[in-house]
Formats: sequence, structure tokens, C-alpha cells
Amino acid sequence: MEIINSFNAPIHQFDIIDSTNRFAKDLCKDNPDNGTIIISNEQSSGRGRLGNTWESYKDKGLYYSIIFKIPNKNLKCELLTLYISLAITELLSDYSIECKIKWPNDILIEGKKVCGILSELVSNEHGVFIVVGIGVNLYHSLEDFKGDLHNKATSISLNTNSTIIKNFFINSLTSYLFDYYNHFLKNDFEDFIDIYKNSSSLLNKEISVHLNGDILSGYVHGFDNNGRLLLNTKDKIIPINSGEVTLRDTYKK
Ligand code: BTN
Repeated sequence: MEIINSFNAPIHQFDIIDSTNRFAKDLCKDNPDNGTIIISNEQSSGRGRLGNTWESYKDKGLYYSIIFKIPNKNLKCELLTLYISLAITELLSDYSIECKIKWPNDILIEGKKVCGILSELVSNEHGVFIVVGIGVNLYHSLEDFKGDLHNKATSISLNTNSTIIKNFFINSLTSYLFDYYNHFLKNDFEDFIDIYKNSSSLLNKEISVHLNGDILSGYVHGFDNNGRLLLNTKDKIIPINSGEVTLRDTYKK
């Protein structure tokens, strides 16, 4: 099956590359078209958030980056990742998989990570771009998740009876991303807050957020129109822009 780009933009395909996000960021120097896609069957230096590496074995996962142009500076860029999480949630429901979003960047199935999103901002003489890297565990068996990942990661194959045809999966993903990018351009998250809350793995849970050396703890009250997590500490509700969230032990799977 042919790979189609709903954005009508170029598709760069590799058998192996260091990182599709690295390639995408370099492409931004040449003012790429909105919706340009980079895909590889394998990555030798896959990048995760917070300087982590992303295991990218050949033909096991989807290693996909897409370049979004930010056409005006009033747009709330933080919202893009949240919309992308919603797009992936819809995509997985087509495979009868109910997943949850762990704000801001992880997609979980029964508490285990199936997909990670790495958004990177590039600003240059051509404008502002956001490179969104999406890593999805597609065909992994349990044995493919070594060490620490064994209890923390899962794959689509392990959770569906449907056949996963990679290029079909890619085309559906791009088509959902196209829809949600158009929602993003409206710059108003209000209509999506309840949908997002329903998909959240964190709502009403007790969490700790690590913020540049500080740790804040409280209950997750919800999310606001700027895509911030609202943390209910004993005395007030604090909006959190970004940070690494840990669930209190009682909720851990
Ligand atoms: C995370 O959860 O830490 C984010 C992982 C993002 C991985 C993807 S795979 C495609 C793209 N290229 C990379 O080097 N990283 C992202």
C-alpha cells in the first residue's frame, strides 16, 4: 500500500536513519512544506523526551516525524501535543484499543506506554516550526521489551486482534493529524477539554510533578484552555505548563 500524505506535502522514507526528528529539524533550514513527513524502518539514535533514548528496532515500531508550520504567533503551541494525543487516541480506537493519555506526551494502554511524542520547536528566518516525533510500538512481543521497559511498555499487536498493516496505520495517523492540526489552528481548546479529561490517565489521581528541581504534589483537577494541567494542592489550584509527572504508588500498575 502506498503512503499518502493528507497534507499534500513531501514524504521522506528511510530504511535506517539516526533520528527522524533530527532529520526533520535539519529540513526546517530549507523552509519545508507544512505537513512534511519523515519515516524510517529503524533508528540508530532514536530520541526520547528529557534526553532519553528511544529504542527503535528494525520493523518493530513506527518512527515518524511531521513538520508543522506555525502560521501565526498567537497560536498556543503547547496545545499541539494535546491535539496530537487525541488524534492517536482516535487512531487506536479504530483497532478497538482503549488508551489513555498521560499528560502531556505519553499514550498508555492499561498503564503501559505504547506511544511517545517528542515535540521540538524550531525558529529561524523562515518562521516557526514544530517538529513532532511520534514513536509507536507496533509489532513488539513482550520479550522485545528488555530490562526496565518489560513492565512499562506494550505494543499495538499485544492489544488487538486486528491485523496491523503499517502503511495503512501511517495513512490513518496522518489523516487524523490533519484533522487535529486544523482544530489546533482555531486556537481554542475549550470544546476539547472534556474529551481530553475523559481520555486522561491522570484525572483525579494523586501525582507529583518534577519542575526544574522542584517537586509539587497534589490531585489532578483537570486541564485548562491553554493545555495546562491543573494541580489541586492543599491550598490552591496551580496550573502546570510542563513537567515530568509521577503517579503516587497506590495508582501504579
Ligand atoms: C518519549 O516518549 O520520550 C518520546 C519518544 C519519541 C520517539 C519518536 S520516534 C520518531 C521520532 N524520532 C526520534 O528520534 N524520536 C521520535
